Amino acid sequence: MNENHDEERAFDGLRPRKFDNFIGQEPILKNLLIHMSAARSRGEALEHLLFYGPPGLGKTTLANIIANEMGVSIKVTSGPAIERPGDLAAILTNLKQHDILFIDEIHRLNKVVEEVLYPAMEDFGLDIIIGKGPSARSIRLDLPRFTLIGATTRIGLLSAPLRDRFGIVNRLEYYTHPELQQVVSRAAEALVIKIDPQGALEIAKRSRGTPRIAIRFLRRVRDYAQVKGSGDISLAIAKECLDSMGVDEFGLDKIDRKYLITVIDKFGGGPVGVETLSAGISEEVETLEDVYEPYLMQLGFIERTPRGRLVTALAAEHVGRKLKGDKTPPQEKLF
Ligand SMILES: Nc1ncnc2c1ncn2[C@@H]1O[C@H](COP(=O)(O)OP(=O)(O)OP(=O)(O)O)[C@@H](O)[C@H]1O
Ligand SMILES: [Mg+2]
Repeated sequence: MNENHDEERAFDGLRPRKFDNFIGQEPILKNLLIHMSAARSRGEALEHLLFYGPPGLGKTTLANIIANEMGVSIKVTSGPAIERPGDLAAILTNLKQHDILFIDEIHRLNKVVEEVLYPAMEDFGLDIIIGKGPSARSIRLDLPRFTLIGATTRIGLLSAPLRDRFGIVNRLEYYTHPELQQVVSRAAEALVIKIDPQGALEIAKRSRGTPRIAIRFLRRVRDYAQVKGSGDISLAIAKECLDSMGVDEFGLDKIDRKYLITVIDKFGGGPVGVETLSAGISEEVETLEDVYEPYLMQLGFIERTPRGRLVTALAAEHVGRKLKGDKTPPQEKLF
């Protein structure tokens, strides 16, 4: 995933800076605008906010837009970067009134650091221990009223006390094809690429509901169009390029297909535990759970059950297999 972030930095001009340029996620935006205008009219800091959902859907982008629209500074850090309580204390004491602290991958904060965060979020206080042993005592420092924005791809790994301290919790959803088509068209405009609407839609359809992927594909297709065609992106060029990359009409790549075929051929369609599967296809459990499975579930291609992963008949059909012992009663298949 790091490679994608580097690509983004190089093309940072593509990141929307205002709500007006942010496409999709309407329920979240509506909600945010209400909370932001309420906070502003009370002259208070915005409540602590948590964004969660699969990678590349716009969590970091939204945090930056909020800071921009509220006219406050944003300090960006991440869970694994804050190693000791002192690191967090240094960050917190440097914030100004109403500033935003953005902690990416907040599920990776360690326990001792997390405990410093609780009183900071709740009472805007920082407890510092002075001295050692029996003479040690604790003093409390007042912190400015700040807003914590947390982002995570794995809400399930967040401790309950931390989760409960966020006033607003938002789950980002995959984007629709028309929304992604718009993302692609806008990015093409910014990069001065000519693309026709059908070409943009084709890229959108194969981008797994994810703006980051759509933008990455757009740049690959642009290169392809320059070398193989006139430089402009048509439906035919988009299809040809994405096919050559091994990305199918549903946006599935080699690994998705390997996942499905392995479950079907080696494990009779499942259920199979994710660890076993991870070993079988040489991909990390975390990558399967964060990146691959959410989209396969969204498509209705797999189910996660307590006994393991199951592949559906729909998925089997997509990869040209038949599920052994398909137990759906024949009459149900009629509908
Ligand atoms: N709604 C949107 N409209 C236009 N572009 C978007 C939108 N959402 C995301 N993008 C673009 O997609 C890319 C990825 O977005 P972002 O970095 O905010 O995702 P993320 O959810 O923080 O991902 P991660 O979980 O990997 O940190 C950025 O280049 C951003 O400009
Ligand atoms: Mg991010």
